[in-house]
Amino acid sequence: MTAPVKIAVFASGSGSNFQAIQEAIERGELHAKVELVVTDKPAAFVVTRAEKFGIPVLALNPKEFASKADYETAIIEALRECGVQWIVLAGYMRLISEVLLAAYPQRIVNIHPSLLPSFPGKDAIGQAIEHGVKVTGVTVHFVDEGMDTGPIIAQAAVAVIEGDREATEMAIHQQEHVLYTKALQQLLK
Ligand code: GAR
Repeated sequence: MTAPVKIAVFASGSGSNFQAIQEAIERGELHAKVELVVTDKPAAFVVTRAEKFGIPVLALNPKEFASKADYETAIIEALRECGVQWIVLAGYMRLISEVLLAAYPQRIVNIHPSLLPSFPGKDAIGQAIEHGVKVTGVTVHFVDEGMDTGPIIAQAAVAVIEGDREATEMAIHQQEHVLYTKALQQLLK
């Protein structure tokens, strides 16, 4: 058996996708190891989740760096120290610059709660509801310098539950957890 692929999960918020990935690993569905959780929001709930799993966290406040390049260089140093091979963005609400992209070419993936290219950016679920679409969904894609752009790897549709944002959000998150695990299974093989 080959060694598990070493990944870092980047997150800015709740971290439910991180947890789904970690649980898939623990069930033996994903041959990977989360070496590091990286967050730009030291108070984010993802930190608590990571601690529960005993996974190290790198929490850096970008504002404490002179530039984005310096911030990402500090992250790259930590990733290299743990031998990270792939970067998995899971609710990391920051654009990735050419510094990190050059360090991990074709090795950074993201999940977004819409059928891209529709509704990129923040609050994709709210944007979809506001627009009145009946079907939205989830996209996994490679990351480039744009906002939720980059080649699409996998997509799944989710019906909007009319008049019930909470239920729609729940359905989307459930689909995210399934789709991200499946896509990572294929990519990390
Ligand atoms: C997820 O819905 C993810 O798709 C979205 O943030 C949420 C994070 O949830 N990402 C984006 O909108 C990226 N543009 P989580 O912290 O519970 O995994």
